[in-house]
Amino acid sequence: MKEVTILDKTFIKYIPDEEINAAVDRIAAQINHDYQDEPPLILITLNGAIVFAVDLLKELTISAQITCVKVSSYQGTESTNHIKNLIGLTDDVRGRRVLIVEDIVDTGRTYKYLWDMLQEAGVSDLRIATMTLKPDAYKLDLPVHYVGFSIPNKFVVGRGLDYDGYGRQLRDIYQLKID
Ligand code: IMP
Ligand code: MG
Repeated sequence: MKEVTILDKTFIKYIPDEEINAAVDRIAAQINHDYQDEPPLILITLNGAIVFAVDLLKELTISAQITCVKVSSYQGTESTNHIKNLIGLTDDVRGRRVLIVEDIVDTGRTYKYLWDMLQEAGVSDLRIATMTLKPDAYKLDLPVHYVGFSIPNKFVVGRGLDYDGYGRQLRDIYQLKID
């Protein structure tokens, strides 16, 4: 499928399945190496990061635990300033290493929100693994530790990423087509 139409928009294939799998393997190898002494609590951000997180977890050899939070900042194809905390943190993270897993870091507002929340909760070490990063939109000084792909500032869907809730199941990543 070279193109897909979701609701009112057309998207073109941008990153094929095999390249995403290779990026998952690369990041998993780094995480297996970096966390061998003290495994992390892996914090998956619902809903978008589910697919990447499952792919990643299958390649991990460390004895990590997982938990989920649900935050939302997007409406349609636009990031909003207001972050909604829909499902909060239920685990005691004090003194623990936490690794956030994200589908995409765009402006970084969601990351900053989670960063503040987790620092406040007393984590000992905090990192993030993200399938995609939009460097031109990213406005923070916080380090982004594990990145699958740095991509242009264009809207993408697939592999967990959605347009108004649709497109998450696509194996490949698709980019918004501008005619
Ligand atoms: P940020 O808070 O601006 O970094 O945005 C992060 C969240 O916005 C992500 O977790 C996604 O849910 C959503 N998002 C940002 N860019 C895209 C995109 O290109 N496609 C789909 N969702 C996106
Ligand atoms: Mg997300």
